[in-house]
Amino acid sequence: MAGCCSVLAAFLFEYDTPRIVLIRSRKVGLMNRAVQLLILAYVIGCHRACFTEVKMEPPPPWVFLWEKGYQEMDSVVSSVTTKAKGVTVTNTSKLGFRIWDVADYVIPAQEENSLFIMTNMIVTTNQTQGHCPETPEETNVCESDAKCVAGSTGTHSNGVQTGKCVPFNGTVKTCEVAGWCPVESDTLVPKPACLKAAENFTLLVKNNIWYPKFNFSKRNILPNITTTYLKSCIYDAVTDPFCPIFRLGKIVEDAGHSFQDMAVEGGIIGIQIRWDCNLDRATSLCLPKYSFRRLDTRDTDHNVSPGYNFRFAKYYSDPAGTEHRTLIKAYGIRFDIIVFGKAGKFDIIPTMINIGSGLALLGVTTVLCDVIVLYCMKKKYYYREKKYKYVEDYEQGIDSEMDR
Ligand SMILES: *[C@@H]1O[C@H](CO)[C@@H](O)[C@H](O)[C@H]1NC(C)=O
Repeated sequence: MAGCCSVLAAFLFEYDTPRIVLIRSRKVGLMNRAVQLLILAYVIGCHRACFTEVKMEPPPPWVFLWEKGYQEMDSVVSSVTTKAKGVTVTNTSKLGFRIWDVADYVIPAQEENSLFIMTNMIVTTNQTQGHCPETPEETNVCESDAKCVAGSTGTHSNGVQTGKCVPFNGTVKTCEVAGWCPVESDTLVPKPACLKAAENFTLLVKNNIWYPKFNFSKRNILPNITTTYLKSCIYDAVTDPFCPIFRLGKIVEDAGHSFQDMAVEGGIIGIQIRWDCNLDRATSLCLPKYSFRRLDTRDTDHNVSPGYNFRFAKYYSDPAGTEHRTLIKAYGIRFDIIVFGKAGKFDIIPTMINIGSGLALLGVTTVLCDVIVLYCMKKKYYYREKKYKYVEDYEQGIDSEMDR
């Protein structure tokens, strides 16, 4: 009972306070300030500069944080439209003299954040439903009807086998199929690409962006761009970095590839538009930054199924009512427009949070200096003596007290 009362008494009538040890030493004092300075520098300045490779626009000198910890951030919302321009001509034995314009080579006519330009093709004209020999391949070359199974199909076949073995040309016989005849022969990709002149086609990219948190919107056709400038300019990273019209050849070149090589079997190119805006500064400084990269990886030592292609057909009927089609295996370059970026604007809440966490980080100084003073310095035993008040275990304490 008495013990209980004394605890209560201690709780009510006693006050404890931590003791602070002041070490009067130049060495320790300077060390403490140096560590504080380092941590302060980290909090204020080089957060990002010291520890990542990401190159950002240089910070304004008065900014207490490179990270812009005083700013509210928002990511971009965007919409993109594209328009290609250019005309070329081909003269082949199969198609004759032919003009190609936008409606011919942009497939489909419009897409979201993307644009496909056909650069190469295998055209199979005038197909009708009927019976004809398969293209010669290991599985369908035959000597007699015995090898051909009526009704069978393979994943690569152009139709359903009829069970007959028929001559494909003078030397080879193949299984006959029911399908769109004559079947496509896609063994050889035209090289150079049929529409190699697509290199000089241009692409206008219109991009509107919006930062919802700050209700800030802008577009990549900047206010100072005039109609006459827009009619004649071509993007160039150095001379015309804000012209929204791109030469296809230049895009692929800037991505580090050859347009003519890529045109043969197709591929995918990313047009990246980066909007990093500091809305504490003039809005005219919020500008798009274009960069380009090839998105389909192309290893020179593993060139299996390279490029990008697909098939489509155009259907028509002759006066007799028979259905015909023109089959096109299209190779080309798909341009994906990728818009990203962040905007920041001063806000009191992130500022407070960041100042708070910065101050908390300063607490690390005490821990660090304690470790050095008490464990690493020459006079560590002396300092320990001063810092700690040594107390014996209870029973031992009683014993030694009695011994006295
Ligand atoms: C593209 O245009 C340039 C200059 O006008 C010309 O020299 C080049 O031959 C053209 N490229 C193709 C593939 O036609």
